Amino acid sequence: MDIVTSVRDLRERLQREPDNVFVPTMGNLHAGHIQLMRLAKHRAACTVVSIFVNRIQFGPKEDFERYPRTLQADAEMMEDVGVDVVFAPTEAEIYPEPQTFVVEPSDLQHILEGAFRPGHFRGVATVVLKLFNMVSPHTAIFGKKDYQQYVVLRDMVKQLALPVEIIPAETVRAEDGLALSSRNAYLTPAERTEAARLYRILQEVRAALLAGRRDYSRLEAEALARFNEKWAADYVAIRRQSDLQPPSPSDRNLVVLGAARLGRPRLIDNVEVSL
Ligand code: PAF
Repeated sequence: MDIVTSVRDLRERLQREPDNVFVPTMGNLHAGHIQLMRLAKHRAACTVVSIFVNRIQFGPKEDFERYPRTLQADAEMMEDVGVDVVFAPTEAEIYPEPQTFVVEPSDLQHILEGAFRPGHFRGVATVVLKLFNMVSPHTAIFGKKDYQQYVVLRDMVKQLALPVEIIPAETVRAEDGLALSSRNAYLTPAERTEAARLYRILQEVRAALLAGRRDYSRLEAEALARFNEKWAADYVAIRRQSDLQPPSPSDRNLVVLGAARLGRPRLIDNVEVSL
């Protein structure tokens, strides 16, 4: 496994690897990331992973400074999975000057997560386009845990005709159902026990939809009422998988998304439903 930190070394190393698949990450790897890398290994001769905590996708009050940077432990995990090339640039390498050209996603960037994290998806789309230009992968893999991110990037690739296939990967969960996330590390032990409630609530909405209910707004309101006083829930939303807009009664492929703060971290999760 080669670890490179400059775009120049990356391009030189990848000149020998036209068949490469890319997994962008912010590091602090867990079993969810490893799953993405395993999927990648099946799709190309060379698996490239980037580790870069991207300041421009964090809001001013978010956790950019204290986001865990754990390159040593990450490298060991990637070595075990058989990653070929790790790109771990400094901030100056990705942003040698202020980033004044940005990717402006569609109105999708203002709903759901975007309503609570203004500018977040602009920052994500901008860095991912830059990383694609540096790595030139034919395929890139993104977890469905960040469902809206996956939809935004899928649309970016389509609308900008990027020669990259986007593959979504299933969310990896702890035994109690909590979706794995680097931010789970901010939970206290008591909060960690409580945290699976988010997934349970989404599952209950899913079950109600499968049982035939189509009163979406009421279902969303009932779901919000199921969070106890330990939580500050931002939303539970039933949306179409295709564009994350509210469904009409004839839509069949839905996703139930939720976001709620539990103590310090804000947790997000979603479950797909095909009726
Ligand atoms: O999902 C993430 O870890 C990040 O949003 C990504 C895609 C690596 C861009 O910084």
